[in-house]
Amino acid sequence: MTGIRNIVILTGAGISAESGIDTFRSAGGLWENHRVEDVATPEAFARDPHLVQRFYDMRRAAIQEKLPNPAHFALARLDAEWKGGLLVVTQNVDDLHERAGSRRLLHMHGEHLKAWCTLCDIRHPWRGPLAGNPPCPSCGAHALRPDVVWFGEMPYRMGEIYAALREVDLFVSIGTSGAVYPAAGFVQNAVELGAQTLELNLEASQGSHMFHESRLGPASEVVTAWVEEILGA
Ligand code: OAD
Repeated sequence: MTGIRNIVILTGAGISAESGIDTFRSAGGLWENHRVEDVATPEAFARDPHLVQRFYDMRRAAIQEKLPNPAHFALARLDAEWKGGLLVVTQNVDDLHERAGSRRLLHMHGEHLKAWCTLCDIRHPWRGPLAGNPPCPSCGAHALRPDVVWFGEMPYRMGEIYAALREVDLFVSIGTSGAVYPAAGFVQNAVELGAQTLELNLEASQGSHMFHESRLGPASEVVTAWVEEILGA
């Protein structure tokens, strides 16, 4: 891979799998017999806020027990050592990239460790449960929700993402099934702009055919090997 200056990396649940965080489409995508898609929506929250808050409380508690794995650390090393442009766009709502040391990072689907007051519109760092309907630390309203993007809602920071994609020389997708748009369409944007594209995933994904190259294997191995390679090139 020569002539590469600007890199955009999209990560999904697969990069955190070896840290012990379930991917979305493993285990049949079920939680307590509810389809995840039926819990992660504004309609579900309006219908049964307690159920939705419990689901996110459980996941928020779980991620705090987990640790970054070698794939997160490899991307943090790339961030520290890559002199050109770099942006990691994660669909994940865990904080394992930042705990590994990544800085040039954005969360397009929000973050488990934040609560959003739908009344005063302020986001707060949040580690505990929301199911008890605690007050907003700013305005006191009982109107907090997880600061995560639900199905049918607009992902965050799309302007910044498309700006980075317009300059990209190499687009890399790691540990994502390519099932959820708009993230699944980024590879197409990159190809149309003449960038090289690489997929690193455990198995072939729905979008594999769109990439110039796919390397299959666990993220801890394939991501670490790719980072060694690109930093050594
Ligand atoms: P998925 O669960 O759809 O896909 C995870 C991908 O990671 C699959 O292709 C797996 O083969 C792969 N994988 C599993 N273990 C791996 C490992 N050890 N190393 C490398 N790859 C591995 O998760 P996402 O693609 O992230 O959106 O899902 C995208 C979005 O759908 C999520 O952000 C979420 C979900 O609904 C929202 O909540 C808005």
